[in-house]
Amino acid sequence: MARILVTGGTGYIGSHTTVELMQQGYDVTIVDNLSNSSVDVLEGIEAIVGRRPEFANIDCGNFVDLDAVFRTYPDIVGVIHFAASKAVGESVEKPLLYYRNNLGSLVTLLEVMRAHSVANLVFSSSCTVYGQPDADHLPVDETAPIQKALSPYGNTKQINEEIICDEAHADAHLHATILRYFNPIGAHPSALIGELPNGVPQNLLPFVTQTAAGLRPQLKVFGDDYNTPDGSCIRDYIYVVDLAKAHVKAIDRMLHVADRDQVEVFNLGTGRGLSVLEIIRGFEAATGVKIPYTIVGRREGDIEQVWAAPKKANEVLGWKADTPIADVLLSAWKWEKHIRNL
Ligand code: NAD
Ligand code: WQD
Repeated sequence: MARILVTGGTGYIGSHTTVELMQQGYDVTIVDNLSNSSVDVLEGIEAIVGRRPEFANIDCGNFVDLDAVFRTYPDIVGVIHFAASKAVGESVEKPLLYYRNNLGSLVTLLEVMRAHSVANLVFSSSCTVYGQPDADHLPVDETAPIQKALSPYGNTKQINEEIICDEAHADAHLHATILRYFNPIGAHPSALIGELPNGVPQNLLPFVTQTAAGLRPQLKVFGDDYNTPDGSCIRDYIYVVDLAKAHVKAIDRMLHVADRDQVEVFNLGTGRGLSVLEIIRGFEAATGVKIPYTIVGRREGDIEQVWAAPKKANEVLGWKADTPIADVLLSAWKWEKHIRNL
């Protein structure tokens, strides 16, 4: 069976995608420098799938090491590139780390792929490239304008997309699928893999589950004075397992569908926006656990509302994010209880 290289594969989305790839019969090699994940994730993947992915502890920015992986696995037919630094706030404090890591790892990967004639790349992008879409561009589809990034992190995603398009223009053999994720949440239903945020969580769901577990005294809701029905911000929260399945669909398409564009872009969301307060209520209803929270001021850089128009991914990839939000929130809580031995 075909082998897929998954960079950043011991990370949150990469580990879930590795599970889905292997369960669909693909062989997987993970490369990861473990800068934001643990090698123990491989145990969880193996426990779910019944076999272990190949693994190399390397930095994608190191040409020699990455080239050696392609030499070791000459049956690599495609790459899913998750490896990146992704903390928006940290990117503001350490922009050079983000530009070096997120741009350098992609450029090195593209160089090594070209050296080994590996033509298929799936790239992890983000709805952050859209910024705050205009009201007439909500829900946001792939034709919505790219807006000036609000953080170095978001800028690295925009520049990465441009790098891919420029390289595809120069090398007709390269085919790329750019996947713009909305807000991935939840964990595998087995609770054997999930999100392992370092330190104080920046994202909403890990903060909710840590509050529910008693690790945090309360949740701070960053503003309820937005121009939304309940005043809190709206996002498109997508189940990480549904998101992972979209990557398998993208790889399948690249390997088996000849009639496609050289570079294709898909928005991966549910098509439904939920507010912060709706997530809190939904979590309490799904789990029976009360979330103490307080309304505080707005968080700098937050956009007011964004959610996807997923029609293109639904129709072209034959994929849909349809896990009920209650099940998704429960999966996050089950994972939190697993890692806290609750
Ligand atoms: P994550 O931090 O859990 O996973 C990223 C993995 O990449 C980690 O295991 C880390 O150790 C590894 N890594 C980082 N730099 C590396 C390098 N130079 N060489 C090798 N390994 C390296 O993050 P995630 O949430 O799984 O995100 C995966 C991708 O999806 C990232 O590109 C991120 O920007 C993108 N994305 C994430 C979200 C989200 O909300 N989680 C949303 C949109 C896009
Ligand atoms: C969601 C909503 C907060 C925490 C970020 C990145 C994006 C992508 C996904 C990488 C917002 C509110 C949050 C809290 C809160 N990451 N919130 N209290 O900001 O939409 O997207 O993660 O690609 O690039 O920007 O996600 O989970 O941080 O916030 O009220 O303690 O929850 O204000 O409205 P966000 P988030």
